[in-house]
Amino acid sequence: MTVVEARASAKINLTLHVTGRRDDGYHLLDSLVVFADFGDRITVRPATATRLTVTGPMAAGVPVDAGNLVLKAAALIGVSADIMLEKYLPAAAGIGGGSSDAAATLRALSEMAGVAVPCDVLSLGADVPVCLAGGAAWMRGIGEDVTPLAGVPPLYAVLVNPGVAVATPEIFAGLTTRDNPAMPEPLPTWPETSDFMAWLATQRNDLQAPAIAKEPIIAEVLATLLDTPGCQLARMSGSGATCFGLYDSAERASAAAGRLAQDRPGWWVVATRLNAA
Ligand code: C5P
Repeated sequence: MTVVEARASAKINLTLHVTGRRDDGYHLLDSLVVFADFGDRITVRPATATRLTVTGPMAAGVPVDAGNLVLKAAALIGVSADIMLEKYLPAAAGIGGGSSDAAATLRALSEMAGVAVPCDVLSLGADVPVCLAGGAAWMRGIGEDVTPLAGVPPLYAVLVNPGVAVATPEIFAGLTTRDNPAMPEPLPTWPETSDFMAWLATQRNDLQAPAIAKEPIIAEVLATLLDTPGCQLARMSGSGATCFGLYDSAERASAAAGRLAQDRPGWWVVATRLNAA
């Protein structure tokens, strides 16, 4: 019996520029996306009918019915399977939990059944194409235009979520301007990690301000991250509320995570590497 496992890594928007809005209401994005060495796990095995089981520390409240993107992904592939989702990522958190689970399901089921992943994965969600690509990428359009990026260095990070679920459409609705500048094209090259960090500091997440307006604790998360020794940059991912801090070493990231977990027991805190694969 073919059992296939796939990692559903946390997606981090190192930059997220909102550059316009289409007539259908979807926003045009310009984003540098990387993946963490941390995430959910999908295991699939052949079955006569599809069934989803969700376990793990973040399983509470995750739907096991057709509302779960994993089952929508399975329907798109069109094969029956017993699917186990081990949930380690918070939901509605700006780090692509549901989209990454869907992409991992597409990968695992296509391998299990020996069938190709269909082209219309965007129908599952705007973040699914970039999650399916998997590595550092430049994401444009509403999420369908994904270009792999070779020059992004591995980064030491701490991810922090203050325990507030954020509804993405509400954050987009709070934007005051929708035609913000895009990233430079072509993107610069970054010979050293320090070049990348200096450039990254000049870029933005345009959803950060409307997210803070809705959930002011996000500003506190950013300030708390910046206050930890060795933190070089702190920014929100996606539409929040998860923020990432970037550090100059694994030791400093792990020390910061330890301190934050101790000081803020209600916050979800993880030290990880980004773009490390
Ligand atoms: O595609 P997905 O279901 O992840 O998007 C959730 C919501 O986020 C959309 O309904 C839309 O309100 C908003 N969104 C957007 N522009 C994008 C992606 C998402 O306005 N490019």
